[in-house]
Amino acid sequence: MTNYKPIPIYDDIYWDLTTEACHSLLIAPSGAGKTVFLSYLAGMILKRGHNLFIVDAKNTSFGATFQSSGVRTASTPDEIISLLTDLVVSMTDDYATTFASGNGDIDSNFASYHLPANVLIFDEVLSALDSGDKKQKGEMERLLKLLALKGRMAGYIIVLTSQRLMATDLPKAVTEQCQTRYIMGANVSEELFHLATGSYKKNLGTNYKGNVGEGYVVTPKNSLTYFKSPFMDFKVNDFRALIHDLCYRRAT
Ligand SMILES: Nc1ncnc2c1ncn2[C@@H]1O[C@H](COP(=O)(O)OP(=O)(O)OP(=O)(O)O)[C@@H](O)[C@H]1O
Ligand SMILES: [Mg+2]
Repeated sequence: MTNYKPIPIYDDIYWDLTTEACHSLLIAPSGAGKTVFLSYLAGMILKRGHNLFIVDAKNTSFGATFQSSGVRTASTPDEIISLLTDLVVSMTDDYATTFASGNGDIDSNFASYHLPANVLIFDEVLSALDSGDKKQKGEMERLLKLLALKGRMAGYIIVLTSQRLMATDLPKAVTEQCQTRYIMGANVSEELFHLATGSYKKNLGTNYKGNVGEGYVVTPKNSLTYFKSPFMDFKVNDFRALIHDLCYRRAT
């Protein structure tokens, strides 16, 4: 059973897959907790009965944990392109069938048709883009743009992480569509903070609370808000068992 209940993040911050804030971008320096946060989001996607896809460009135990439970996971440029292509093809089919024949209600989306979301959790998007040759990089960017621009209504949702965020690093067409922005970490430059959130870190002064697993989130509804990421230790067996159980229940 698919459950569209917004996913709790922290306090009164929720991730609602059915809103314009669905695409998300998580910026944090190395070791600040990106992958740990993603493993929580990924687990919740399964728990809510949606389809989950993972790109783990650095081939860590994060991807391995979900892959061993049957979640489609990509890490090489070819695997990533193949996964993104399949998602775009499937999204295009959904538009041609379900949404084209729809009732013309502009508010209708995947949830109104009781379809699950197809969530792509993409860790280290810059490492992935840089790991490809020029042609592969261009293709990954093109496919990501299509998902970012057209995915929302059909429930093709992207969550990206990156250590940097410069205009030249990531296509603007992709990052602009990510209307939920998270930034975490103690050592975040003023420039990165501003690029990620649109606010100035210096305004927080000594109140700045960024740390490992802690930082700030902005959505179209919430202005800059402190948040702490739920701690999921994907390296421990209990978490693996939980993911196995969630995947098994989906498959039966
Ligand atoms: N919410 C949290 N609460 C407490 N500790 C955390 C939290 N998130 C992460 N950590 C700790 O920080 C470590 C690094 O986290 P994680 O691997 O998610 O960082 P990362 O940003 O993905 O780093 P990398 O750039 O190396 O991939 C974890 O192994 C864990 O010990
Ligand atoms: Mg990581």
